[in-house]
Amino acid sequence: MRGYSEDVLSEVRAKSDIVEVISGYVALKQAGRTYKGLCPFHTEKTPSFVVSPEKQLFHCFGCGAGGDVFSFVMKAENVGFAEAVRILADRAGIAIEEGSQETREARERLRALYEANEAACEYFQRVLAESPEAENARAYLKRRGLVDEIVGKFRLGYALPSWDALLKALTKNKIPKEVLLEAGLVIPGKDPGSCYDRFRARLMFPICDSSGRVIGFGGRVLDDSVPKYLNSPETTLFKKGKNLYGLHLAKDGIRKESAAVIVEGYMDAIAAHQHGFGHVVASLGTALTEEQARTLRRYAPGVVIAYDADAAGATATVRGMEILAGAGLIVRVASLPAGEDPDATVRRGGAEALARVLADAKPLIDYKLHLAVSSCDRSTVEGRVNAAREAARVLATIESAVERSEYTRKVASELEIDPDALNKDVEAIVRAGGARAEQPGPGGRGGRPRAPARLGAPGAPGDRNAGSRHTKSEDDIARSGEMMKVLEAEKILLRLMAESREVQTTVLSEVGPDGFHDPRHREIARAMAEQTADAGTEGEEGPAAEPSKVIGALDDEETRRYAAGVFLGQAGEGQGDPVKAARDCLGVLREHGLRERIREIEQELASLGNTGEMERSRDLLAELWSLRARLSREFQPFSGTR
Ligand code: UTP
Ligand code: MN
Repeated sequence: MRGYSEDVLSEVRAKSDIVEVISGYVALKQAGRTYKGLCPFHTEKTPSFVVSPEKQLFHCFGCGAGGDVFSFVMKAENVGFAEAVRILADRAGIAIEEGSQETREARERLRALYEANEAACEYFQRVLAESPEAENARAYLKRRGLVDEIVGKFRLGYALPSWDALLKALTKNKIPKEVLLEAGLVIPGKDPGSCYDRFRARLMFPICDSSGRVIGFGGRVLDDSVPKYLNSPETTLFKKGKNLYGLHLAKDGIRKESAAVIVEGYMDAIAAHQHGFGHVVASLGTALTEEQARTLRRYAPGVVIAYDADAAGATATVRGMEILAGAGLIVRVASLPAGEDPDATVRRGGAEALARVLADAKPLIDYKLHLAVSSCDRSTVEGRVNAAREAARVLATIESAVERSEYTRKVASELEIDPDALNKDVEAIVRAGGARAEQPGPGGRGGRPRAPARLGAPGAPGDRNAGSRHTKSEDDIARSGEMMKVLEAEKILLRLMAESREVQTTVLSEVGPDGFHDPRHREIARAMAEQTADAGTEGEEGPAAEPSKVIGALDDEETRRYAAGVFLGQAGEGQGDPVKAARDCLGVLREHGLRERIREIEQELASLGNTGEMERSRDLLAELWSLRARLSREFQPFSGTR
């Protein structure tokens, strides 16, 4: 099935607890029988992403994403089913059949690249620790106040002032020259086939991915020569916009603090860690990307930017902050004393000084207002007018009207201008929609109320007569309300079936999979029946169907997603006895069946009219009366119906 044997899939599924797997991507909090977190698949500020350990399913009530552990990995890693199985199998240490020749080769190449980077890292570390020629590097680190423990933790090393020290050491270790070239550790020389070390006489900072595998290096000179830092080129492994320096060491700290701190430099991150700030990462000297923002979002809802003063004001940096906010992170901006970077701050005032700077970090909006206002000369009328105009554009981006007016008042008093006038300008921009269209910044995307649920949407699956006869009469409206009630009852039934084998047996014998009106419900019911039949148990005896296995048996990803929502839905929750709740739902279906039949008869009678088919008319009328009697005997009338 889908490329792997059922046995392999079962084993991988059994060893991939969905809460554990998803915890590697999303910060989850337990909430009763489920876990909740911020959905990694859309931007949101309040958690609507739910994971059920019992059902081994996830579902986002915001964007509708959902499914089993395989669906999650497919979506999170943007891979196909086969690759998702492989990732989970690797994680669980399960050996599975090899893929095609091509994927085998690609995997082998990746493995070789990791191996080369790891070997280089170990080599540079050894040189720093042992080589007499590295004495100046060791002295340099001491001068910069780094202790051995932290040097070891960040695996710092030294590249000798030599053209081929690394090349020789690693090729001796059987790492092919081609791999070293591809990893960017050596550079092709003038003579064909020759090459030389990229990093020479530099202090080496290995750059790791989030699981701590070395993917590249930054190398710093020990003096004032340029370039100060030389970095590995972009390779298959090393993509600057994808990674954050120190993340593998900061993950736990970020979770604990519920926020990450982003600094600019390698040295800043290391010095911060040494002084107890375990939640600090560095941005690799480039503008922040959406991918980095999403990565951080997996660990915590907040982020503090601690760039040095001039860098923080730069347009690219502000843009980076907006990218973070756009990904749903709560962004605050720390102001470092002029001319200091975090490394300098801890060196000057110790951990306490940096702690104060971080604690004083301002919300992004305050920071942007500060930038807007301070860029103008407030001693002149013209300057204040300009400042007000800039500030109004920023103010107009604030989503909440209350917050917007609060900030507007604050800015007006700071600029000593009329708050009502400023407010008018702001509201004009808001109405024009200009500011928001321009920058989808904080809250610009997510967070807005969704369109109301389609009320009385006609044409629902199974609504056979939708659109026929008259349009949108009272009848139609009542019927679509009825259909919504039916579909809701079906969803609850499916969930109850997965909870109780008795319910499943009852439902399947009373209505069968084909008795469901939504085609997706039919598919799910069928998969459920098959799953329990496969388990070799019949009747009411065996255990209930396992939702994750039911979902695994569905062919189409869209249906799997939908099914996860059904199984994790909350409607009808807490009704106590599942058997009794199921009875109520079955009642809804039966009542609908009666009403449908009544409508059919009414239509046929109307079409017969006065055609003289008296016998047929008499039969239909007789059935109609008995159905109506049953309906009023067994069921309360639907509200809103005659
Ligand atoms: P900085 O110049 O602020 O360096 O660059 P730093 O980290 O504070 O280092 P020290 O304190 O002088 O030793 C910040 C970051 O920008 C990238 C590096 O990632 C660096 O850590 N950078 C800087 C480069 O990639 N190349 C350069 O030439 C300079
Ligand atoms: Mn520095």
